[in-house]
Amino acid sequence: MIIAIDGTTASGKGTISKRLAAWYGLPHMDTGRLYRATAVAALKKGVALDDEDRLEKVAASLDLDDFDEAELRTAEAGKAASKVSALPKVRQALYELQRAFALQDGGALLDGRDIGTVIAPDADVKLWVDADVEQRGYRRWRELLGFGEDVSLEQVIQQLRERDQRDQNRKDAPATMAADAVLIDTTDLTIEAAVEKALAAVEAVLARG
Ligand code: DC
Repeated sequence: MIIAIDGTTASGKGTISKRLAAWYGLPHMDTGRLYRATAVAALKKGVALDDEDRLEKVAASLDLDDFDEAELRTAEAGKAASKVSALPKVRQALYELQRAFALQDGGALLDGRDIGTVIAPDADVKLWVDADVEQRGYRRWRELLGFGEDVSLEQVIQQLRERDQRDQNRKDAPATMAADAVLIDTTDLTIEAAVEKALAAVEAVLARG
């Protein structure tokens, strides 16, 4: 079984994915980490975020053990990840890794932006997780405060708008809901309620066969 979970930043996608993977006993790949790690590695090496050929090499030679979670979660890493993820050669360099993960024996759960459309269009279940940008901004802002970042709520909402724009309007694999995905709107839901709603949606799709 392959479960594809796509959606916007700070929609609850990450938590829902972790919880569903644990529930179904499926290995989980957070594919945003690949783009974040590519971006952070590029920043460390002084590679420009629009130098597609060099970024392709950075992506192809990633070792995820080289990064700690905190450096991948900063606002700067997220913004840089959104930029490098718009480049086709970077996406191509990360494709095989994701495809192989999706096809492993026993199934897998992947979350990202293009899992249901590009990486695993053959997934058994596809969810698209989203929420109003103000609500997502609030969640993200609280998370960043927890990491000790000094930003205003307005700045965070503005950054999310820019990120959504870039992710949804890029030419290659734009972040978009697959035609056969189920929408999970988490705007008015606690994380517990969002997880339950997602689980119920997966069960409904599986029951349909
Ligand atoms: O989900 P996230 O915030 O960790 O993702 C960081 C960036 O990576 C996001 O702006 C878009 C990009 N991304 C992508 O293009 N495709 C994916 N499958 C996952 C993330």
